[in-house]
Amino acid sequence: MEFKQVVGRRRSIRWFKPWRPVEREKIQVMLEAANRASRSMNADYPRALVVYRDDLSEELREALRNPTTSVDLDLAPVYIFWYFDMEYPKGTQARLKELVGQSVLPAAHGWSDAYVDEFLWPQVLAPIAENPAALMFMGATETGIAICNALNAAVDEGLGTCLHAFTAPDKVKELFGVPDSWFPVWMQLVGYPLEEPEAGGQRPRKPLGELFFEGSCSTPWREDEEVSARLRAGGMIQEPGPFPYREQEVRMLSRMFGLPDGTEGGYGAGGGAGEAAGDAAGEESRRLAGVLESFCAFVGADGPDALVERCLRTTKHGDLALSAKGRREIDGLIDGWTESLGLGGREAIVAGNRIRGYLISRGVLMQGRVAFP
Ligand SMILES: Cc1cc2nc3c(=O)[nH]c(=O)nc-3n(C[C@H](O)[C@H](O)[C@H](O)COP(=O)(O)O)c2cc1C
Repeated sequence: MEFKQVVGRRRSIRWFKPWRPVEREKIQVMLEAANRASRSMNADYPRALVVYRDDLSEELREALRNPTTSVDLDLAPVYIFWYFDMEYPKGTQARLKELVGQSVLPAAHGWSDAYVDEFLWPQVLAPIAENPAALMFMGATETGIAICNALNAAVDEGLGTCLHAFTAPDKVKELFGVPDSWFPVWMQLVGYPLEEPEAGGQRPRKPLGELFFEGSCSTPWREDEEVSARLRAGGMIQEPGPFPYREQEVRMLSRMFGLPDGTEGGYGAGGGAGEAAGDAAGEESRRLAGVLESFCAFVGADGPDALVERCLRTTKHGDLALSAKGRREIDGLIDGWTESLGLGGREAIVAGNRIRGYLISRGVLMQGRVAFP
């Protein structure tokens, strides 16, 4: 794919074809792209651990869930855990002198073996290696640069990908023998996109003039319309979202997996209007009301508002916050409720996800469970 197309087509993909494995060679392309990234001190910062969803225990997958990473873990067949090796400064002198020897770092620019050994290393680089903040800053930055190449390589290979918060690094470390010197950075999920690769359109970005400056920070970058037109033609600037069919696309994908589809908020708000009209929305709203009533009766809650309240807590500053404990309890009660109804398999997951969907519509973070069709 042409470079501008790759940059323009990249989106954070969150719907993958769970049934389609990724060819190992494509992962190799991504790793090679990461390995070819530019790097300060010519150091080998990034480390990657590639694992396959189907080889992982349910327990580990649960541990990897976090508020911003859930269904993605069930759908993506490949996970890449990115780290940097905190020992990256080791061998810097030799690596730089290799570049001096190859005339990459030339005498014309002041480089020599003696400069590396006697000045650059002891006076500039060794202090960095001994400074934990600098070590972290450089490690994270450089790994990000490498990951960016891997993201773009995935797009070039026709894959979908998204970076995610990397929770449970201790579990991953224990299970896969991650060395002590590796510092966890991000988790990358990879697979074939189930959503259209455009994923509803290019994400909004501010105009260059709001972010970048020329000559002085009081002079915003002035965009040349001709260049922007060339980038549109080349595919780097693409149609922004949302596409007219995006909502429908996501609703259908959600239903395919029995997930909350965003209609669960219809209860109590606008549902009545649908009911009066006797249309599909009204029917849906009535069904949801029935499900919520049944669940409230099961848990002894005085209506859906009381369910929401159980998922909240008051902080020591008097603010309202989500309660992890309350949410976990409700999640467990949902399982108990579906069991009490004699539901199993997909039916149980779908019913439970309707309750979760209602809570989500009220701002309570719940993680929908995936029911494979
Ligand atoms: C370092 C990094 C971490 C991210 N972590 C998450 C995450 O934990 N969960 C998630 O859904 N998206 C995550 N994203 C994706 C961003 O939310 C996404 O990049 C942003 O919304 C812009 O969309 P785009 O990538 O499609 O341009 C992450 C992206 C980056 C670069």
